[in-house]
Amino acid sequence: MTDLVVTEDKIIERILTMELVRVTERAAVASAKLRGRGNEKAADQAAVDAMRRELNKLPIDGTIVIGEGERDEAPMLYIGEKVGTKKGPKVDIAVDPLEGTTLCAKDMPGSIAVMAMAQAGTLLYAPDVYMDKIAIGPGYPKGIVDLDAPVEDNIHALARAKGVKANEITALVMDRPRHADLIAKLRALGCSIRLITDGDVVGVIQCAETAKTGIDIYLGIGGAPEGVLAAGALRCVGGQMQGRLILDTPEKVARAATMGVKEPKKKYDLLDLASGDTVVAATGVTDGALLKGVKFSGDIIETETIVYRSLTGTVRRILGEHRELTKFHLD
Ligand code: FBP
Repeated sequence: MTDLVVTEDKIIERILTMELVRVTERAAVASAKLRGRGNEKAADQAAVDAMRRELNKLPIDGTIVIGEGERDEAPMLYIGEKVGTKKGPKVDIAVDPLEGTTLCAKDMPGSIAVMAMAQAGTLLYAPDVYMDKIAIGPGYPKGIVDLDAPVEDNIHALARAKGVKANEITALVMDRPRHADLIAKLRALGCSIRLITDGDVVGVIQCAETAKTGIDIYLGIGGAPEGVLAAGALRCVGGQMQGRLILDTPEKVARAATMGVKEPKKKYDLLDLASGDTVVAATGVTDGALLKGVKFSGDIIETETIVYRSLTGTVRRILGEHRELTKFHLD
């Protein structure tokens, strides 16, 4: 649970925690219908449309702060878009309607529909750029790993704190050429490396469940939106995370500045990424390490959703069985 004291006026109405489930369920079902069809764009669009439709039913005055790109690039759920009935609390919304579009298009494990909600002004407003990230699970002294420390120092510090040798540490890294040097250094230390092709929201969350997943640390560069979403979940279950936006062109620096990023090189910690009462919901699209994918069996559609609430540290797993599809617009 968070070590942050959240004043009463900043607490999200708890009923909204459950409302988010409907949103990610609908997005997951819509994209699951396009699993394995090789069409990333169509699967993503289906998830976006369904998520937007459900978000607009919520009694919130919401603003998308992490979305499907900026206004000109993405007609739906763009950064700055207003969602909800406007008759409710002012909230920040971060969405990734289909996290792992390639995984869904290829019917590979690990794609999810995911979103976060928090009081207005408490999620990092970040453009759709890369973020350099480091994350570990709960139970370690604060600050034992650092984004700016050499990878060898981080692994040795983590191993010492865990009471194991460096070669008993497992790191999760995205399988990308940009990580060749990082992977070589981890190999030299004898670490085990779990390489993933996509889906680093779940990758970061997996650090918080080492006993179940075997993952001790997340290292490397992934999407910034995914970083904020993962931070919301980590705030709930505990753990440490740092991230730095990769603003490597003057154009990206300028775009970030319009969103309020004054220090382009700032190293964000968990509370900089998600500082308020943050709720994160994710529904599996394809089967994966965290969630089962959508199952279509006859007239019944089964979903599995996980919901994190940082204020209370509560994690709920919700199995849905959906019927009467036309009535509930589960398309
Ligand atoms: P999409 O769902 O937008 O395709 O993102 C998938 C993902 O693997 C993320 O989990 C990750 O943060 C990002 O892409 C990494 O970006 P890239 O594929 O450019 O390395």
